[in-house]
Amino acid sequence: MTLRELHETARKMLDPVPYDYVAGGAGEERVLAENEQAFDRYLLLPRVLCGSEERDTAVDLPGGRRAAPVVVAPTAFHRLVHPDGERATARAAAAEGAVMVTGTAATTAVSEVVAAAREAAADPAVWFQLYLHPRREVTEALVRRAEEAGCTALVVTVDSPVFGRHTRDLRNGFTDLPPGHAAENMRDLPGAGPGALTDIPMSPAVHWPDFAETVRSTSLPVLVKGVLHPDDARLAVEHGAAGVIVSNHGGRQCDAVPATVDCLPAIARVVAGRVPVLLDGGVRRGSDVAVAIALGATAVGVGRPVMWGLAAEGEAGVRRVLATLRDEYDHTLALCGGRRNTDLTAGSAVRKGGTW
Ligand code: FNR
Repeated sequence: MTLRELHETARKMLDPVPYDYVAGGAGEERVLAENEQAFDRYLLLPRVLCGSEERDTAVDLPGGRRAAPVVVAPTAFHRLVHPDGERATARAAAAEGAVMVTGTAATTAVSEVVAAAREAAADPAVWFQLYLHPRREVTEALVRRAEEAGCTALVVTVDSPVFGRHTRDLRNGFTDLPPGHAAENMRDLPGAGPGALTDIPMSPAVHWPDFAETVRSTSLPVLVKGVLHPDDARLAVEHGAAGVIVSNHGGRQCDAVPATVDCLPAIARVVAGRVPVLLDGGVRRGSDVAVAIALGATAVGVGRPVMWGLAAEGEAGVRRVLATLRDEYDHTLALCGGRRNTDLTAGSAVRKGGTW
C-alpha cells in the first residue's frame, strides 16, 4: 500500500471535522499543494555498477543514531484520530527505530509518550517540540518536563508567531478541542490555562536571544523548526541550534511561501555541514526522501502520513507508514547505485525539463 492509499483509507474512516483538521492548510491551501507538487519537479539521476547488497540507511541525528533518515514530525492532538493517540505513535516509532517528535499540543503528556516508547524499544528517541513563551518561566517549565520525561532533544518551532488561519477549521467551527481532550503538556504551567487550544503559546514577541537562552538552559540538543530563509539558518547555527528543520508547517501558516524542497539547497549551503539539516512538508514516497537527501538534508520529517496511518490502523498503521518509507527509500537508494545516504549528492537530483 502506498502512503496515498493509506490517506484514502483514513479519509473514509474519520469524521469530516478531524479529517479536515489534519488534511487542511492555511488560506487557499496553495502551500499545502505546492509542498507535494515541488517533489514532482525533481528527478533522480542514478549511477550504475557501483551499488551493494549491503546498504546502510542509518543516520546520525542529535541525541543519537537512528535506523533510517525519516522522523515523525510533531503533529498536535493524536487522540482526535485514534483513541490510543500519541502512545500508539510513540510505540510504533520506537519499534521502527525512528525519532518521534511529540509536541506541546499533544493530547498525551510527554512523560506518558516516552514511557510508551520505552515499552517498544530499549533506546527510543523522543524529541519534544515547543513554542517559546514570552514568559520565560513557562518555557522553562516545559523544558524541565521534557528533560524529566527522558526526551533526547528539543525542537523549537519558530514559524508560528501567530496561529495560522486554517480555512477548513474556521468553516467547520473547529476552534477548540472536543470535551475529554486537552493539550496535556500545558496543564498546571505557571499562569497557563487548562490545556485549551488557545493556551498553546504562540507569540511574535519572542526573538533569537530567547532561543539562545533556551539553548543555555538545557543540556539537551535544541533544533530550530520552521526555517525557510538562509539568513535564518545562519542565525540559528550562530545561536546554538543543534539542527535546522526546513519547514513551512505543512502549509498551515503563511500561504504564500515556497515549497520546502525548493528552500533546501540554499539552506544546506549556508549551514555547510555544521549541524544536521532536516526537511518536512510533502514527503510521501521513498524517492522524495532520496531527493531531499541529495539536495542536502540529513533526514526528513513526515506529518500527515503518520496521522493517516494512526487513524486507519493505530500503532500498526504508523509502523506501516515508517516501514513503507524506509523500504521505498532503501529500494530507491539501490536503484541509484548508492550504498549509504551520503552517496546521494547534489548531482543525484535534477529538475524536470532541465539539462545536466
Ligand atoms: C502540524 N505541524 C505542527 N508543527 C509543530 O511544530 N507543532 C505542532 O503542534 C504541529 N501540529 C500539526 C498538526 C497537524 C494536524 C499537522 C498536519 C501538522 C506541522 C508538522 O510538524 C510538519 O511541519 C508538517 O506536517 C509537515 O508536512 P506534511 O508531512 O504533513 O506534508
